[in-house]
Amino acid sequence: MGLSFNNSTIDDLKSQINIVDVVGRVVALKRAGANYKGVCPFHNEKTPSFVVSEQKQIFTCFGCGASGNVIKFTQQYYNLDFTEAVEKLGNEYGISIKRSNFDENREKYYEVNKEAARFFYRAFTEQKNAGYTYMKNRGLDDAILKKFGIGYADEKWDSLYNHFKAKGVDEKILLELGLISESKGKYYDKFRNRVMFPIINTSGKVIGFGGRAIGDDNPKYLNSPENKVFQKKNNLYALNISKQDIGKEGYAILVEGYMDAISLYQGGVRNVAASLGTALTENQTRLLKRYTKNVVLSYDADGAGQNAAMRGSEILIKDDCKVKVLHVTDGKDPDEFIKKNGREAFLKLIDGALPYIDYKLRYIRRDMDLSSDDGKIDYIKAAAAVLRDLSPVEADVYIKKLSKELHIAEGAIKMEILGNNSNSSRNGQPAVPQRNHREEVQEEMSSLEASIIKSLMVNPGLTEKLLDYSEIMASTPARKVMDILFELYGLNGDFHMNQLTDRLDPEESEALSNALDKIVIAGNEEQVFSECINTWQRKRLLQQEQDLITRLSLADEENNPDSINQLTLELMEIQKQINSHGGRK
Ligand code: CTP
Ligand code: MN
Repeated sequence: MGLSFNNSTIDDLKSQINIVDVVGRVVALKRAGANYKGVCPFHNEKTPSFVVSEQKQIFTCFGCGASGNVIKFTQQYYNLDFTEAVEKLGNEYGISIKRSNFDENREKYYEVNKEAARFFYRAFTEQKNAGYTYMKNRGLDDAILKKFGIGYADEKWDSLYNHFKAKGVDEKILLELGLISESKGKYYDKFRNRVMFPIINTSGKVIGFGGRAIGDDNPKYLNSPENKVFQKKNNLYALNISKQDIGKEGYAILVEGYMDAISLYQGGVRNVAASLGTALTENQTRLLKRYTKNVVLSYDADGAGQNAAMRGSEILIKDDCKVKVLHVTDGKDPDEFIKKNGREAFLKLIDGALPYIDYKLRYIRRDMDLSSDDGKIDYIKAAAAVLRDLSPVEADVYIKKLSKELHIAEGAIKMEILGNNSNSSRNGQPAVPQRNHREEVQEEMSSLEASIIKSLMVNPGLTEKLLDYSEIMASTPARKVMDILFELYGLNGDFHMNQLTDRLDPEESEALSNALDKIVIAGNEEQVFSECINTWQRKRLLQQEQDLITRLSLADEENNPDSINQLTLELMEIQKQINSHGGRK
């Protein structure tokens, strides 16, 4: 998650910076009528179809469809997140960036983590210690250990605590960061006799640690708890180091473990990141997508790893990524494989990785007996459900494959696919490209968000419905609440207000109860919930409509008939949907 800014900062930025200037620094622009034109930096082209409108302060490429304002351009061009783009523009154009107190406070947490990382690093490098011996035995070179900032937490109970105490650092911060724990009024180091992997975000901040036991201690890994600066589900291990390589290679390899990431990197396969031991999340996907849409999943060879790969691919596919799944054939994970067989062999595995659909087909038939007729029929039915979601061309390829493999007529498979296609648009989402409008970071919870939360508190069962619309929660506090509720619900199928407030800071908790107090749920909470969803969908559609109208007017000025046709079709579709969501009102 990025830092938050005053809304006025964003407005200042947009009003004081001219997009023509920002784009003009990196793209040669020529005036063309009221607009500027150049060769698109986001796709390969020879004839310019990239247009910047000074008046509208937006860019649009009629070749690849990229489009947005000055912040969006900066994000995309320099591979930055929203926060980083705002900071970059602010610095370059001398516009002061106002942050809330909350964030100055966050800096302090980063500093403490960084100091802890330095402390562990010194212990690892400056004298003989069990951590260093362990990592050397696992075949890692000094240069790599240094690159990843690997450290050692010694076996004493208070080394780190004393270090920070001497520096006058508040215990509260150390507790919150999970570096120490408290018992009977005394403080203890949390990480003892462990190899320390600092987890660093893409802005270079140390956000947490994974500590590996030396030998067979339990748990094998001890990780920093979730806190203000560390959310597992928002980060990927090693991406701070590998993001350039990912850009260069044009794809990322996602692995499960810290050790897998480091080992592949040392083995010369550098475009790698690890998912921090959780199931891959939407936020991690979004983060990765800043660098590439092409992902090769390389999870552990066991059943658990393969299940995780299946779930991970679904998440990535939902977010428009191209996914392949790699199966490690020798050893239990990529770490073992590359150490044993080397880089070339691993690259061969990458070449042989299965595209998502092939993997999914193989996955669903893993326990089926294809030699019996019943088994074949079951498989075809399940496969048809998978192929139903594909474009006609893609589906055709797989229909041919299946037909050959199972000796079943193509026509029969097609019938099976068409026979049950009542839900042809996935997740009830419209079949129109969606753009994400969550770029502005809101600090305050909106009343819509509060209404949703209130209906969930009344009826936790609604949480499952919210899963499909998680984007509705846009502000920082609402997202935090939602994430906690998802977690609680996932664990128990239920939750209570006090379980939620236990997980919030006092200020957050107070802000929440103020927001919820303002909401009165008079009738049925399910109805309130669906009205909220509907309101949000309509708002989003109206926003998309506005975007399309702007782009259409540009296409008009450019006299670009293909784009005009395409955009008109999209606009008609959106308007149809607006009507079905209660119209313009
Ligand atoms: N993990 C965790 N807590 C555990 C076990 C695992 O957080 N008790 C996470 C860690 O991020 C770990 C990842 O899950 O890196 C994958 O687990 P595993 O395959 O067991 O670890 P490896 O990284 O392969 O470590 P090693 O090779 O040392 O066993
Ligand atoms: Mn391993």
